[in-house]
Amino acid sequence: MILNEALRLYPAAPISLRETTNNVKIGGLQIPAKTQLFIAMAAVHYDPKIWGDDAKLFNPMRFIEPKKHLATYFPFGLGPRICVGQNLAIVEAKIVLAMIVRKYNFVVSPSYVHAPVQVLTVRPKYGAPMILHRVSS
Ligand code: HEM
Repeated sequence: MILNEALRLYPAAPISLRETTNNVKIGGLQIPAKTQLFIAMAAVHYDPKIWGDDAKLFNPMRFIEPKKHLATYFPFGLGPRICVGQNLAIVEAKIVLAMIVRKYNFVVSPSYVHAPVQVLTVRPKYGAPMILHRVSS
C-alpha cells in the first residue's frame, strides 16, 4: 500500500503518449487518425473525484480497498504496452525495504527539501537524505 501510494503521488514515469491509428470517438470527442495523445497521469492520480478531498495527501490506507476502475491508477501504464518490469520493480522494492527494516529504523533527515522534479523520470531534486539507527538485536 505504501509503494502504491508513493507511485500514485510520484509516478516515476508520469508521461504516456499514444497515437490514434484510425478516426476514433473517445467520450464526446471525435479524434482523427494520427493524433498524438498525451495521457496526463497526474491529472488522474490527483483527481479528488476519484481519490477524495485528501487526494494530495500521502495516505497508503486508501489502497486497502480494491480499485473501482482500472484506469484510475496506472503508474506502470495500461494496455498492450504496459510496463514489462512492473512485477520485478515492486518485488525489488519490497525486498530492499525488508532488508533495510531488519537492521535499521529510519526517518527523513531535517535537511530534506521536498522538490520532486522530472528529468525523464521523477526524482527528488536534492536527494532524499535519511537518518538510520541500527535496530538493537
Ligand atoms: C517503479 C518502477 C517502474 C515504473 C514506474 C515504470 C513505468 C513504466 C511506464 C509508465 C511505462 C509505459 C507503459 C505504457 O506506455 O502504457 C513503462 C514501460 C516499460 N517498462 Fe517500466 N517502469 C518501472 C520499472 C521497470 C523495470 C524494472 C523494467 C525492466 C526490468 C521496466 C521495463 C519497461 C519496458 C521494457 C517498457 C516498454 C514496454 C513496451 O513498450 O512494450 N520498467 N514502464
